[in-house]
Amino acid sequence: MKLILIGFMGSGKTTVAKNLGHKLNLKVVEMDDLVLKISKRKNIKEIFVKDGEEHFRDLETKIAKKISTMDNVVISTGGGVVMKDRNNNLLKTGNIIFLKTSFEVLEQRLISDSSRPLFKDREKAKMLFDLRQSKYEEWADLTIQTDNKTVKEIIKTVLLKTVFKKSVL
Ligand code: S3P
Repeated sequence: MKLILIGFMGSGKTTVAKNLGHKLNLKVVEMDDLVLKISKRKNIKEIFVKDGEEHFRDLETKIAKKISTMDNVVISTGGGVVMKDRNNNLLKTGNIIFLKTSFEVLEQRLISDSSRPLFKDREKAKMLFDLRQSKYEEWADLTIQTDNKTVKEIIKTVLLKTVFKKSVL
């Protein structure tokens, strides 16, 4: 089994991945952590500032290749993984789940978070959000609306729809 979480920054991919991994006894992999490992930088922000976004995207694709060979794992992707179409086939090696969160809710969560270089400017972040929504939908095997849902409810939906394959909830 291989579950791959996609969605915008702040949509809860990391938290949901940890919980799913725990429930299903699967390894949890954070793409950003692996990207950081193969970079020479201290944190993600520093990769963006010193090397630029394109370099970050190249490292991200290297890691997408690596995870395409993994199994029995829950993967939390970086929110911008859909910016490069070349990553699509690599992620298709798993069951792709889109955590869909409204911009208003994301904004509340992220406005004071300085670790996310692409959320510094609200207008730019909104443009990125709009640009990516159709990609997330297109790439996903399952879309879960997360506004007003607890982590527990999100996990339950993922389990019912992917592990037990129930279509009616
Ligand atoms: C990014 C999202 C981040 C991280 C990087 C770029 C993006 O991951 O990969 O800052 O382009 O949306 P999270 O979605 O885990 O915040």
